[in-house]
Amino acid sequence: MARTFFVGGNFKANGSLKSIETIVSNLNAAKLDPNTEVVIAPPSIFLLSTAASASNGVKVSAQNVFDKPDGAWTGELTTKMLIDHNIEWVILGHSERRTIFKESSEFIAEKTKAALDAGLKVILCIGETLQEREAGQTLNVCCEQLKAVADKINDWSNVVIAYEPVWAIGTGKVATTEQAQEAHKGIRDWLASTVSSQAAEATRILYGGSVTEKNCKELATQPDIDGFLVGGASLKPAFVDIINSKL
Ligand code: G3P
Repeated sequence: MARTFFVGGNFKANGSLKSIETIVSNLNAAKLDPNTEVVIAPPSIFLLSTAASASNGVKVSAQNVFDKPDGAWTGELTTKMLIDHNIEWVILGHSERRTIFKESSEFIAEKTKAALDAGLKVILCIGETLQEREAGQTLNVCCEQLKAVADKINDWSNVVIAYEPVWAIGTGKVATTEQAQEAHKGIRDWLASTVSSQAAEATRILYGGSVTEKNCKELATQPDIDGFLVGGASLKPAFVDIINSKL
């Protein structure tokens, strides 16, 4: 089964009304590979303006969501609010949430379940630190992070996994093609043995961490790399070249 190539842009806490309008206009006007699914994730205050102006098949994602129904959760957005505004996607488990905001794998799994139950699609981020890689723990760490989710959900059809080695995020230090392919293959094998061969075959596994228009083409040739989750480079015009990395 061919998996549709997927490129996400995670703007993190960057942008202004003006700069995001420029990014979206650039995407709207660009010739984008029709075989690539494109999703951009602006900070929450820009979700509605971005969703209102994005065209050309570009979808919008939140960068986080809470796992509880509407209620007394100061500062949070609920799944119902995203659905109410036709926001289809949410990023969960990003390493910045795991480390800076101390989100545990269990909490991320709860949020993933709540998001899927509400009808959202999830970009689920996993990945190891440099210390864990050097200790030979890359796959153990990734699979533990995935297992927390697998303990709570059965249907992976609305989940895209983003493998983002922490040491490659925002550092300019991209994983080599071999390192990325090896991790992606290991994650796919884990899906086959733990979830199902169907889930392993169908689930997109993205690479994230210092992806640029220069390194994307080679990474995109790998059999288990189904796209990218892009941070810094998604704020630049060259994001279009990353979207088109299969052309
Ligand atoms: O979610 C995307 C990410 O963390 C990678 O960021 O800036 O290294 O592309 P960057």
